[in-house]
Amino acid sequence: MIPATENAPLFEVRDLRVAFGRAGVSLEAVRGISLTVDHGEVLGIVGESGSGKSIGMLGALGLQPDSARVSGSVRFKGQELVGLPRRELRKLRGARIGMIFQDPLSSLNPVMTIGAQIAEALLLHNETLSARAALERAEELLTLVAIPQPDRRLRQYPHEFSGGMRQRVMIAMAVANDPDLLIADEPTTALDVTVQAQIMEVLADLRRRLDIGLILITHDLGVLAGHADRVAVVYAGEIVEQASVDDLFARPGHPYTRGLIASIPDMSVERDRLNSIEGTPPPLGQLPGGCAFHPRCPLAQEICRASAPPIRGRAEHIAACHFADLPEGSTR
Ligand SMILES: Nc1ncnc2c1ncn2[C@@H]1O[C@H](COP(=O)(O)OP(=O)(O)OP(=O)(O)O)[C@@H](O)[C@H]1O
Ligand code: SF4
Ligand SMILES: [Mg+2]
Repeated sequence: MIPATENAPLFEVRDLRVAFGRAGVSLEAVRGISLTVDHGEVLGIVGESGSGKSIGMLGALGLQPDSARVSGSVRFKGQELVGLPRRELRKLRGARIGMIFQDPLSSLNPVMTIGAQIAEALLLHNETLSARAALERAEELLTLVAIPQPDRRLRQYPHEFSGGMRQRVMIAMAVANDPDLLIADEPTTALDVTVQAQIMEVLADLRRRLDIGLILITHDLGVLAGHADRVAVVYAGEIVEQASVDDLFARPGHPYTRGLIASIPDMSVERDRLNSIEGTPPPLGQLPGGCAFHPRCPLAQEICRASAPPIRGRAEHIAACHFADLPEGSTR
């Protein structure tokens, strides 16, 4: 095991692959993704349903199902996580790394009070904490995620909370032990637009106050516009573009990113229907040859069908497209 080092990036993923085996065939759902997140930084991961966003991050934290195999390198503060014993990984998760799972509403226990559930998350990683101190800390955490009357709320059950409030509880539990990194998988899906904005504000506030590195997973690029520092665009298990959020919107290098931007509803323009990208992503095991996006790409040429595109650009802004017009240089 490589020891943690002080100067290493907070979270560094290199060539991460997650494969499922079926009838002797190995199907890669995540095909070599690389990314970095630092303290206080927000990285958005965006892509359509089935692109590998969730399984990629679950695999990175050792939470993949037994049928999946993970390879590559995932370092947290310099410490390699791939291959780490499950017990060690469990210690890191929930303490140093917080995770808000997709579908949080079913992640709360319906027969336990909110206070007892938050206290349990605290006590699991701190055996010396008294039950009373845990409940006091739970109250502080509800205040931190802007839940009014936290003392009363602690004694209530999940069904007495609205969807937005339950999402706040999930965030409170994920940051209970003061993690350095928080991974939030679709934290605002299934919430209405006003509540979405409130949840994003809670996350932004936590990032500022606690200097947490935050990975925000979403299928909605619009959510990232005001909230991410950098964005990784995922298509069919690969990062096809990665850039600062400003660069991505101002100079998208990949046709898929341009399609995602065009799909964001624009309230100021009246449209008969939402612009959307034609077609659907390839199912697992049915990847087209060459560029995986070519059957849907309005710019596809013969070369796109024949060969996979190289990564163009340099560290700050890269795109995997034969025709990406980005300044070249060294890539990280
Ligand atoms: N347990 C599993 N067994 C087999 N295939 C799986 C399993 N979990 C995920 N996959 C496959 O891996 C691919 C990526 O799934 P994943 O859940 O990561 O997508 P996603 O990008 O998070 O989508 P969504 O936006 O719908 O949450 C899909 O093709 C999915 O069918
Ligand atoms: S490589 Fe070709 S098919 Fe792929 S995104 Fe670029 S133009 Fe489209
Ligand atoms: Mg998902």
